[in-house]
Amino acid sequence: MKKKLTIGLFGFGCVGSGLYEVLNRSNLLNATIKTIVVKNKNKQRVLPADHFQYDKELILADPEINLVVELIDDADAAYEIVTRALRSGKHVVSANKKMIAHHLDELIALKNQNNVSFLYEASVCGSIPVIRNLEEYYNNDTLRSVQGICNGTTNYILTRLDKEGKSFDEILKDAQRLGFAESDPTLDIDGFDSKFKLQILIAHAFGVITLPADILNIGIRNIKEQDIRFAKEKGLKIKLIAASEKIDQKVIGYVAPQFIQEDSFAYDVNNEFNAVTIEALFSDRQVFKGKGAGSFPTASAVLSDISALQYDYGYEYRKKETTQLNYASGFSTRLFISSTNPDKLKLIPFTEVEETFSSKDYAYKTGTVNFGALTHELYRNHPELFIAFFPQTEGNFKLAPVEENVVLQNTF
Ligand SMILES: NC(=O)c1ccc[n+]([C@@H]2O[C@H](COP(=O)([O-])OP(=O)(O)OC[C@H]3O[C@@H](n4cnc5c(N)ncnc54)[C@H](OP(=O)(O)O)[C@@H]3O)[C@@H](O)[C@H]2O)c1
Repeated sequence: MKKKLTIGLFGFGCVGSGLYEVLNRSNLLNATIKTIVVKNKNKQRVLPADHFQYDKELILADPEINLVVELIDDADAAYEIVTRALRSGKHVVSANKKMIAHHLDELIALKNQNNVSFLYEASVCGSIPVIRNLEEYYNNDTLRSVQGICNGTTNYILTRLDKEGKSFDEILKDAQRLGFAESDPTLDIDGFDSKFKLQILIAHAFGVITLPADILNIGIRNIKEQDIRFAKEKGLKIKLIAASEKIDQKVIGYVAPQFIQEDSFAYDVNNEFNAVTIEALFSDRQVFKGKGAGSFPTASAVLSDISALQYDYGYEYRKKETTQLNYASGFSTRLFISSTNPDKLKLIPFTEVEETFSSKDYAYKTGTVNFGALTHELYRNHPELFIAFFPQTEGNFKLAPVEENVVLQNTF
């Protein structure tokens, strides 16, 4: 029997307004929006002003509302809304990856204590149904890796860099003008947005709950035209990859630019598209590709959560209860670094060097590096230094013999 859902909607921006329309167009659901709460009283909206409220209590204190859909752009306010809604016995659907990534353990405990559902498919790669797939389909013993292009803004910039030979700054400005990038692009181009999504993916793939600060993120801000040329000469592309992999009883994760070979799932994922690939022991690799953002694509994932709630669906986090895996930061990888100042290459110690090149205004080095040598600060404090993982082949990552205790200070 379908449950009747009375919705309190927070936010009527890109995703919230998309959900309103998608819900209206879908006759399948026994779900109605009773109250919409937004922030700014003076904003022009597509619906008459009497459709909107500004006091969150009108949703949180309304006993008739049994589902809160939180679609706002403020992670701190979202945390307060979501925790209060769960505590008062309301189901919650959210798309707020930053808030979820920072508080996942607490939110799982709260939804369990209050016997309600907390769903957030739209928070990772928009319309791509990856969380519920990881949760329901892939069991922990056989799952090997999950990786993806999880940020449309950076993929759009990297696609144009590859095709047009313009500078990063020119293309970023263009992307901002066209609405593909925020005026403050930090969360996207420095890999934070991808990292929040990866942290959620790791929880559902392997049952391991980390904090964003545990996962290294290196972004694309420092990329140079020479790096793109280097990639082209080798038949490679550069993509911002969020990846996690199981090695022995450990799970590793990172967000970093990566050189991609033609046979990679990521090679032909262009512009604002996202893709996720899941590798498991017997099913081998599977790839999901689709729109990771945008009003209707993201709203469609929210709609799917609402629809699942009508049948009392909830994430069970079975892998979290049973996992023997630990998150590890001590491993080695193949790396490429380049700089317009050859001296900067000394900043990263290589355990093995494969290739070096140096001219007066551009130098690069490839080889093997212990992961502990890399930090977000190294990337941010040295704009001349481009850091990218080299093409991944089987067994490319190796756990460090002695686990290095890496403290990453890349909080955001
Ligand atoms: N846009 C995408 O494609 C996309 C994709 C995946 C996930 N998401 C996630 O979805 C969420 C919403 O994103 P969006 O792009 O729709 O944002 P947006 O277009 O900037 O809209 C944000 C909405 O939140 C409202 N709001 C902000 N603070 C509020 C508060 N304290 N109380 C009530 N309402 C408040 C704003 O009110 P006003 O209208 O009054 O300003 C606005 O309606 C974010 O967590 C985002 O990360 C977005």
